[in-house]
Amino acid sequence: MTTMARRGVPERVAAAERFAAETGFTKSCTPEVGRLLRLAAAAKPDGVVAESGTGAGVGTAWLHSGLGAGARLVTAERDPVLARRTAGAFSDDARVRVLDGDWRLLERHAPFDVFFCDGGGKRDDPRRVVELLAPGGMLILDDFTPSPHWPPVFEGEVDELRLFYLTHPELDATEVLTTPDSAAVLAVRRG
Ligand SMILES: C[S@@+](CC[C@H](N)C(=O)[O-])C[C@H]1O[C@@H](n2cnc3c(N)ncnc32)[C@H](O)[C@@H]1O
Repeated sequence: MTTMARRGVPERVAAAERFAAETGFTKSCTPEVGRLLRLAAAAKPDGVVAESGTGAGVGTAWLHSGLGAGARLVTAERDPVLARRTAGAFSDDARVRVLDGDWRLLERHAPFDVFFCDGGGKRDDPRRVVELLAPGGMLILDDFTPSPHWPPVFEGEVDELRLFYLTHPELDATEVLTTPDSAAVLAVRRG
């Protein structure tokens, strides 16, 4: 098996994308976000890397592509069919655990050196999301609509959720464009 299916796209990512297409799952992260995930995981080679919302396993596979030999990757998904597929896809790697259930199952693996919060937590318990970060731990939140305004605006209203993360006193945070029409919030918890 080749390690790269398309230029810069690891085979496990391509396999997860195929599964997503076959099952009609449309919420996978983009390759632009995926490269950000790989970079973040690679920056913490002995770290605990977490993901809430495994989905079809695309983001998991990107995180895995940057995972250091001493690192661990734990991802939680409440849809048992999706969780089972990704558990099977990574059954050959003892560094990876897929939790079948609510994102709060991740808590026992905290604190996190990287946290891709993508399904559970981001909207329903943002304070807890920040608490689960290790000092120096990086939080990644995608799927924002770029806003040229401050405070950020979404659909004509101040985006209070984005504002929470961007102004949290324990975080150094910024918003970056991942494509011309999508943005991610990157934040690091102060030591
Ligand atoms: C945006 S998709 C995840 C995409 C995936 N992280 C990726 O990058 O390819 C969100 C996923 O989160 C799952 N989800 C939503 N709420 C959840 C919760 N409270 N606990 C666990 N999973 C949840 C959904 O079932 C869905 O599969």
